[in-house]
Amino acid sequence: MTTSQSCSSITTIEQPYGNVTTRCIPGWHRRPLPDIAIPFNSDKGKHLFREALLTDGLHGYFSLAETFHTQAEPSYCGPGTLSMVLNSLNIDPGHIWKGNWRFFDENTLRTCDKRKSKDNPLENILEQGITFEEFLYLTECNGASIIPYLASNTTLEQFRSAILVACTRRLDDIRLVCCYNRSTLQQTGTGHFSPIAGYHLQEDLVLILDVARFKYPCKPSKSNNNSKKESSTTVPYGPRPWPIFGNLLQLGYRPYETLYRWSKMSKYGNIFRLQLGSQMVVVLNSPSIIREALHDHGEVFGGRPYLHMIHETLHGKGVISAPYGREFHEHKNFLIKSFNRFGRRRRSSLENGCLDQVRFVAEKIREKQSSPFRIGNMLSQIACNNICTLTFGRYFETMNMNNLFEKINENFNQTATIACFNFLPFTRKFRKNIFNNVHDCNRVIKKLVGERETNFDNEFITNIVDAYLDEMNQHRQRSTYFSKENLDSLVQDLFVAGTETISNTLHWAIFYIVAHPHVQKY
Ligand code: HEM
Repeated sequence: MTTSQSCSSITTIEQPYGNVTTRCIPGWHRRPLPDIAIPFNSDKGKHLFREALLTDGLHGYFSLAETFHTQAEPSYCGPGTLSMVLNSLNIDPGHIWKGNWRFFDENTLRTCDKRKSKDNPLENILEQGITFEEFLYLTECNGASIIPYLASNTTLEQFRSAILVACTRRLDDIRLVCCYNRSTLQQTGTGHFSPIAGYHLQEDLVLILDVARFKYPCKPSKSNNNSKKESSTTVPYGPRPWPIFGNLLQLGYRPYETLYRWSKMSKYGNIFRLQLGSQMVVVLNSPSIIREALHDHGEVFGGRPYLHMIHETLHGKGVISAPYGREFHEHKNFLIKSFNRFGRRRRSSLENGCLDQVRFVAEKIREKQSSPFRIGNMLSQIACNNICTLTFGRYFETMNMNNLFEKINENFNQTATIACFNFLPFTRKFRKNIFNNVHDCNRVIKKLVGERETNFDNEFITNIVDAYLDEMNQHRQRSTYFSKENLDSLVQDLFVAGTETISNTLHWAIFYIVAHPHVQKY
């Protein structure tokens, strides 16, 4: 244990937010925090932290705290912040920091331009500090993608939405960095970069992990830096939640009718809040509001919410669970291109496969003559076969995949239980078999993808996995998100999204055909 000789006595300072214990009087070697910010180390700071933790507002905090970095030079707030964020995102710098270790600090950051990277990219920054554009450039060059929000064309609500996405969603690969003017927070200095690590919803406070720790400690500060009145509009009003279940039990058997009824009540209106177990959701009820959210502010609301089972299956990769951004778009474009290439062409392997399947099922139905039978399994097999043809270029019967198919089916039959996992986390430990099924499916799919990788022939590309491997090889020189990890998740996406949907559609179609025999004449 070390103690400072000049600051050996512990002093307790009274602050408006409670007492702060320190060995030195702030002002000598650090500046006192102005009243507008609450010291992290104060009673109030600790209390807010506990509350934010309980209300899911600290998802980014732990990985940032794990890699916390104090800027190496007074002008290095941008590079210091970026190093910390890149380390917390677990991005490999691709070159050595010290010894054998690869880690980001201000000196391991690289520019994209090969010529310049021999020089120290931070030379100018040391003299003049970093601009917002330089920060964007450095971020992209070092392996992360960035969505910039400029104060001039971002509303306070959009800013709050970005904070909500970064701090309250369980996404491992989103961080929020703020470039702010210190003087608006009544601090000395001007422009400063630091990551935002948490959000206290009720108080509308953000936790700034200040990288200039020699100057100011971490502090929760008002997200709008305005009056309380404005902050209270952050979360829309909604029906009063019950403990543990929130509003879940109030939704009733026909949730859409309940939601409609609430939207017509003047105290809630077209935008209201619901607490579904541990998750808070905001319900939008009119086409124009939905359009505004999904179209006008697509970059904030375009992603999907965190759903535990989806995340467990797809790990935030591929298309379905990838965060909305460049990674998502690259994969979505690839899928659309591949569906056109392998699926929609006449006489494609998929079309021939579908016709074979129709003949097979027709034959089976004929064999049953007039005796009753369950058609569900047969239809699920058709769906699985189609996805297998599309992804691996082979039927699933020829690949000994009955086991995979059974596990997917078993989990789909437990959709209601799986929904509970999202809202009532304590239920997750009661149904271990569902998670085992997911892990087994992931293992089988990984193995099949691995086999295709071993037998890959770029002259003979007949399916999505081959096309992806080809794309990966072609893009090796460019920085893209095409990776083995993303390929595994993309294939899982297709099985999750394309099996139950197709078999259910066929099931209903057959049901209607049976119930309306006159259409069978056509
Ligand atoms: C009748 C059959 C189908 C129906 C009714 C259906 C319905 C839907 C719906 C409603 C969504 C949007 C869900 C959301 O945004 O959360 C969606 C997304 C998706 N579906 Fe389907 N689907 C069907 C078949 C398929 C098949 C056969 C495949 C794959 C081969 C597939 C792959 C996907 C993928 C990858 C997405 C995510 C797209 C994105 O995020 O932009 N679907 N589907």
